[in-house]
Amino acid sequence: MIIIAPSLLASDFGRFAWETQRADKAKANWLHLDIMDGHFVPNISFGPEVVRAIRPLTRMKFDVHLMCSKPEILLEPFAQAGADSISVHVELGERITPLLWKSRSLGLQVGLAVNPPTAISHVLPFLDQIDLLLVMTVNPGFGGQAFIHEMLPKIQQAAAWRQEKGLNYRIEVDGGINLQTAVECAQAGADTFVSGTALFKQRQLGRAVKKMRDAVAEAVRRSRSRQPAGWGG
Ligand code: DX5
Ligand code: ZN
Repeated sequence: MIIIAPSLLASDFGRFAWETQRADKAKANWLHLDIMDGHFVPNISFGPEVVRAIRPLTRMKFDVHLMCSKPEILLEPFAQAGADSISVHVELGERITPLLWKSRSLGLQVGLAVNPPTAISHVLPFLDQIDLLLVMTVNPGFGGQAFIHEMLPKIQQAAAWRQEKGLNYRIEVDGGINLQTAVECAQAGADTFVSGTALFKQRQLGRAVKKMRDAVAEAVRRSRSRQPAGWGG
């Protein structure tokens, strides 16, 4: 199943409630929530109280992306505020395993994010512990940046590992995702698409979400029909 996840970072910060309802009515699958601490990335976004405030407005899954140096102190507050999944960054090194365990124990879906300069091989030891692999396609910190095409081989590698190892983590892409780059990512093996600017800045969000989902679905159909018989259906 293809997931389209608009990122609230690109919405009108004066109207989070209204923007959440807009994403809900647009039939987005998940709402992506970018949490920035001004330290791990050079920007600050919003915290658990915002998540708590918008939680009653929708049943969409809340996909929290922690771009924070101390996720240890944030897992519980975000879980209590209504997060469904939380992704932490692989750049945190040896702190990853306890973070993933803690998230699991809080009943969360578990995600691992990888920044553009970080080799994809860093996620290998964790693949059997995660529900979601978040491949950053821009350097995190700000919305509206251009997609980095050099990230496409990482997506292909993540998809190859998933098949080889018989795992079923989602492959999520985040940063500079629009109609065209979403299709390129889908062809490389992504199934979960975070998009801020290209969705929230549209007046007709429902149309934009549907267009992206349809374009991605078509790309997946085409690339499957090009594969020789017996290729992981
Ligand atoms: C970037 C964030 C992204 C951001 C994407 O630091 O992790 O989720 O909201 O925004 P666009 O789609 O505008 O690149
Ligand atoms: Zn994000």
